[in-house]
Amino acid sequence: MKVDVLLGLQWGDEGKGKIVDVLTPNYDIIARFQGGPNAGHTLEFEGIKHVLHTIPSGIFREGVMNLVGNGVVIDPVIFQGELDKLEPYNIDYKSRLIISKKAHLILPTHRILDAASEAAKGKDKIGSTLKGIGPTYMDKTGRNGLRVGDIFSPNFMDKYNALVEKHKQMLRRYEDFEYDLSELEGPWLAAIDSLRELTAVDSEHYINNAMKEGKKILAEGAQGTMLDIDFGTYPFVTSSNTVTAGTCTGLGVAPTKIGSVIGIFKAYCTRVGSGPFPTELHDEVGEKIRKDGFEFGATTGRPRRCGWIDLPALKYAIMINGATELSMMKADVLDGFETIRVCTHYIIDGEKYDYFPYDVTDMDVQPVFEDIKGWNCDLTKLSSYDDAPTELKDYVRYLEQKLEVPVTTVSVGPDRTQTLANKKVLA
Ligand code: GDP
Ligand code: IMO
Ligand code: MG
Repeated sequence: MKVDVLLGLQWGDEGKGKIVDVLTPNYDIIARFQGGPNAGHTLEFEGIKHVLHTIPSGIFREGVMNLVGNGVVIDPVIFQGELDKLEPYNIDYKSRLIISKKAHLILPTHRILDAASEAAKGKDKIGSTLKGIGPTYMDKTGRNGLRVGDIFSPNFMDKYNALVEKHKQMLRRYEDFEYDLSELEGPWLAAIDSLRELTAVDSEHYINNAMKEGKKILAEGAQGTMLDIDFGTYPFVTSSNTVTAGTCTGLGVAPTKIGSVIGIFKAYCTRVGSGPFPTELHDEVGEKIRKDGFEFGATTGRPRRCGWIDLPALKYAIMINGATELSMMKADVLDGFETIRVCTHYIIDGEKYDYFPYDVTDMDVQPVFEDIKGWNCDLTKLSSYDDAPTELKDYVRYLEQKLEVPVTTVSVGPDRTQTLANKKVLA
């Protein structure tokens, strides 16, 4: 069996958690391959909303294994908090959750370094979630990091103290930045003790054996393609490869073993944090999308920036990921519009562009829009795509033609049940 991948095609928060939860009954294993607690994946069912940061979104379904892969970075305190939140639901997470020994650990000093670095950047700040993601991946590539496997080593504390010492030296650079490590260290070490009670595995062997045994595996992306460290709007990106290729390095899956790639996007577009966003709306339309879509960060609560769908950016994301099918999310958020706008290309310095130029951050990018007739009715009660209004079907068909990939799922509300199969791929 091959590994299917589900990942975001925009700037994150496309609704990955919801669709992974919907698709989980079709799979034996759900695996996160990159990112960390900067992610906030929301699942809604039976009137309850759950937000996951590190735990894969298959955790609520019985009989499915959830793997935190080697490409993920783990903050043990946040991870423990997520596990605690599962307690009231009697989820036997110890039997459903395994962690790669090669996943890196976020230390309290990584978080402090993240905050110090962002503060020093002033108005040029990335808008990081301040979860220590950048400094942790820096230590990983700098070959200084601590990994989950290290917590079982007798000299773990020596390794920890040596890394903290190094971080303290680095923090001296930020003269005006004050911090208090003492309050953070105790809970972190306590959470490490809890982490030792979970199952840590050689995840690359686990996943390859599972494939040989014919198990069905879905890799769950975090963030989105436009936040990818290589292909996103650098430097306003996260520090991992959020694209399909990240599945290979983040799980130990060979490129020849990638199956379907499900790209997921909102019927419009959002971004949280700084950086270019050509179709951003600074008017009451943007405000309406934010309000109707409840566009506030699942991790930080920050209001998300809102705008119309951006086809050049989406085409780029589809190309980089090799998306084989698409899920369009939050169609219902556009219920109240007579007209929907679609950005087909940009004008930069009088020239037409149908892709994101290299120095987009420093350029005056003018989006050019095509107007599409809206459905202007309530989609949230729909139970079949066949019953969808013609205008919605026309919008979906228009996007399929432009993007050259089928839209197999259309989501019309946050709940599990508010999910319509266009091409009958859902269970
Ligand atoms: P993720 O990071 O990609 O998993 O997405 P988030 O959970 O950060 O943000 C998506 C938000 O939209 C969450 O609040 C979801 O509950 C919600 N959501 C997902 N699909 C839909 C949909 O089709 N309609 C509406 N109205 N909300 C949705
Ligand atoms: P999910 O998985 C949306 C953004 C931050 C910031 C930039 C770098 O829920 O889609 P970082 O904390 O990684 O240093 O932040 O990336 N960002 C996200 N935006 N959804 C996410 O995850 C994000 N994770 C990071 O806002 O602009
Ligand atoms: Mg999110």
